[in-house]
Amino acid sequence: MSETPSNTKKLYIKTYGCQMNVYDSERMAEALGGSGYTEVSSPEEADMILLNTCHIREKAAEKVYSELGRYKDLKIANPDLKIGVAGCVAQAEGEEIMRRQPMVDLVVGPQSYHRLPELEAKAGHGQKALDTDFPEEDKFEKLKSRPKAKRAPAAFLTVQEGCDKFCAFCVVPYTRGAEVSRPVDRILTEARDLVERGVREITLLGQNVNAYHGAGEGGTWGLARLIRELAKVDGLERIRFTTSHPNDMEDDLIAAHGDCEKLMPYLHLPVQSGSDKILKAMNRKHTAEEYLRLIERIRAARPDIAMSGDFIVGFPGETDQDFEDTMSLVREVGYGSAFSFKYSPRPGTPAAEKGDKMVDPDVASERLHRLQSLITEQQHAFQDAMVGREVSVLFERKGRLPGQMVGKSEYLHAVHVTDDVAVGDIQRVRIIESGPNSLGGVLLR
Ligand code: 5AD
Ligand code: SF4
Repeated sequence: MSETPSNTKKLYIKTYGCQMNVYDSERMAEALGGSGYTEVSSPEEADMILLNTCHIREKAAEKVYSELGRYKDLKIANPDLKIGVAGCVAQAEGEEIMRRQPMVDLVVGPQSYHRLPELEAKAGHGQKALDTDFPEEDKFEKLKSRPKAKRAPAAFLTVQEGCDKFCAFCVVPYTRGAEVSRPVDRILTEARDLVERGVREITLLGQNVNAYHGAGEGGTWGLARLIRELAKVDGLERIRFTTSHPNDMEDDLIAAHGDCEKLMPYLHLPVQSGSDKILKAMNRKHTAEEYLRLIERIRAARPDIAMSGDFIVGFPGETDQDFEDTMSLVREVGYGSAFSFKYSPRPGTPAAEKGDKMVDPDVASERLHRLQSLITEQQHAFQDAMVGREVSVLFERKGRLPGQMVGKSEYLHAVHVTDDVAVGDIQRVRIIESGPNSLGGVLLR
């Protein structure tokens, strides 16, 4: 029997932004697998191109339009090519995308991508399909069960979506909607399934993951209880979660960092600024001091924990002194890693609507540069301090050099060895060198 054309369609997905988009892209590819698509790695060979987009800063959103511009010739050469935009730009800009780039056939928001197969069938040859609803139904329930292929040893698992915090600068509450947590049993089933297929580390994802409150046996479970239950899954060796708001770091979650062995000693806990005045203007609902005391408590539970964070510089009204307060906070915390961004006004957010007191762009750039230098210094110091220490490494892939294998330590450092190990092995490694982006080690047997 000859193969039907529907079995030969090729899908190219390009993912922007956070890990939640990485997870969503996997699920979208799986959903379109049911329509006969298999993934390819270049747009030139594709029958369908799907951009999974990010709206968090203006630069991220604009990238989408320049990328779409690059596909014009492909669309002219192949009128059957379908082009779709998914993710947060799709949610925020909807029909505007099709107006700006008429070659886009399909727009789908982050809450409705379970409907992709229907939308794909409808779209193309001048027919447009758009769905940016926040539907009643749970998209994870509607999505097909995940294919049984062998998986890489580390995987993402979305447990929570949306955010109710409404930080004044942030589009997430608008693009991803209100906080919703997946039920405990669904998460456990997905986790067991991942483990059966070779996964040994799971990172639990949510825009505000530590606000997780999912339906479980006997009522609503918090994140700590979910983690403790996941820790009982045989074969699952490592658990992480990201990203968290300081005000949702409840006592049992802090305690889990001390007593749950499978929970890795790395915590991404953004503070955004070290100035109370700016924190208030950002609607963060905590002070710098409260954040520092929280970190003390987390470190009391797990002294070796590597802290990570996010910072925004040049938020409207930020003075030199406010920025110096951020620098002091960073010095006091001592981050293992951190991310910093120049404030980008986002349409529809309270900070952008006020439109006042924008910091001079050159001043903001200079501050960003100084903050990034300090963070890089801390990152290197933390990495260098690993030399001579024993860490545990989950090996994930071959390295660039012959015989080299690369994995991640519990602190999320990339570690390479030239010993005989297999993908998926977890081994004790002594660190012998610290390079610009990774550590070198030898196996302890
Ligand atoms: N401008 C700059 N950075 C932002 N972030 C969120 N919104 C904005 C914005 N409007 C940053 C925050 C957040 C991270 C994911 O992106 O630091 O924690
Ligand atoms: Fe955005 Fe995070 Fe604030 Fe929610 S907690 S509004 S996702 S920055």
